[in-house]
Amino acid sequence: MTNKPPSRPEFSRRAFLKGASAVAAGSAVGHEIAAATQPESGATVFGTELHTIELTVNGKPKQVKVETRTTLLDALREGADLTGTKKVCDRGACGGCTVMLDGETVNSCMTLAFDAVGSKITTIEGLGTPDNLHPMQKAFVECDALQCGFCTPGMIVSATACVQKRGKPSLDQIKADMSGNICRCGTYTRVFEAIQKVGGQKVEGR
Ligand code: FES
Ligand code: FES
Repeated sequence: MTNKPPSRPEFSRRAFLKGASAVAAGSAVGHEIAAATQPESGATVFGTELHTIELTVNGKPKQVKVETRTTLLDALREGADLTGTKKVCDRGACGGCTVMLDGETVNSCMTLAFDAVGSKITTIEGLGTPDNLHPMQKAFVECDALQCGFCTPGMIVSATACVQKRGKPSLDQIKADMSGNICRCGTYTRVFEAIQKVGGQKVEGR
């Protein structure tokens, strides 16, 4: 038995005209949508030019030049020269870029710099210094809670927010609060230990 080849679709003047009018209708709708999204007169329209904004980072004002699309992560690293906050996935999946915004943790790669204006931003540099470590940084060192260290700034910011919010978090609360921070080296049990140490609790889970 031979298979009949699929026939070429019929092409007629009628079909062409129907298609053309559909395209024209679509274009008209597009124009209506574009007209509806135009700002009201007097509204400010931002383009791709650079704007100088002021961010409050670790208690200090920082002026940075950004586009409207610039993320808080890029504004911190490239504009404010604060490279402790790490760019890892750059798509909200790993927590390496975690900072605090008014005490709440956010992925700075998923936050626009413009949206952080007026908020208090805390980065890893705002927690402690090499000579004067924050208790959470100290606990990470003492518990050996890092290997390559690339996830560590984000981990420490999330861990600090966890203890600030909960005081003495349980292991389950710690796991929930740290669930957005991924460590490729697998240091989780020691991270949990460090957080419990700072929370003043007996260390569970090892
Ligand atoms: S770099 Fe922001 S979540 Fe991974
Ligand atoms: S210590 Fe290497 S990724 Fe966490």
